[in-house]
Amino acid sequence: MQGLEKQKLTLDERIIVFLQYPIHELNTTMHNIPNDPTLNVSLPEGQPILRVVPMPSDTNYAGDIFGGWIMSQVDMAGSIPAIRRARGRVATVAVNSFVFKQPVFVGDIVSLYADIIKVGHTSITVDVSVYAQRGVREGGNEVCIKVTEAVLTYVAIDNNRRPKVVPQE
Ligand SMILES: CC(C)(COP(=O)(O)OP(=O)(O)OC[C@H]1O[C@@H](n2cnc3c(N)ncnc32)[C@H](O)[C@@H]1OP(=O)(O)O)[C@@H](O)C(=O)NCCC(=O)NCCS
Repeated sequence: MQGLEKQKLTLDERIIVFLQYPIHELNTTMHNIPNDPTLNVSLPEGQPILRVVPMPSDTNYAGDIFGGWIMSQVDMAGSIPAIRRARGRVATVAVNSFVFKQPVFVGDIVSLYADIIKVGHTSITVDVSVYAQRGVREGGNEVCIKVTEAVLTYVAIDNNRRPKVVPQE
């Protein structure tokens, strides 16, 4: 890909070069994966609620992981403790905050941690933290980077999709 922008290629030719390029090369040359040691953190204690590896089909037009893909994983992760606490079905009523702190790349090992931070009458608010581990696939040391932090509110609902009281623990 180096110098590609300097060559006089048509859009079609660029797309063909892009599709033929090995994905690990795309990751390192196109996206210039940050190698800032100050970003390296430890995973939180305990098991993540969800662990997933994004695929090339999860990227945006620029080749980085699409924000909507991360939002979907976060919503799924947050719903798990909410469903357990509600002992039943929940619906996402609000995304109170959502910060994409660092980009996520194809092949990252993405771990999602979800903790209930508030239980209301019918609502349950959950904090979701997302970490990406990368580096070993490329033969280097593994680094762990906090990529996203979000807070979502779920509502316990009945079979008619109406709010219902969250049961006592
Ligand atoms: C979730 C839903 C059933 C709630 O119904 P509602 O009539 O709006 O409910 P209420 O106004 O009684 O609020 C229910 C709870 O949600 C909380 N809530 C409502 N809007 C909120 C908001 N914007 N932010 C945070 N909490 C909110 C209320 O404070 C209340 O909590 P509490 O009972 O613990 O005090 C309804 O809004 C709905 O079906 N939304 C669509 C859900 C959905 O499809 N989600 C998927 C994403 S598309």
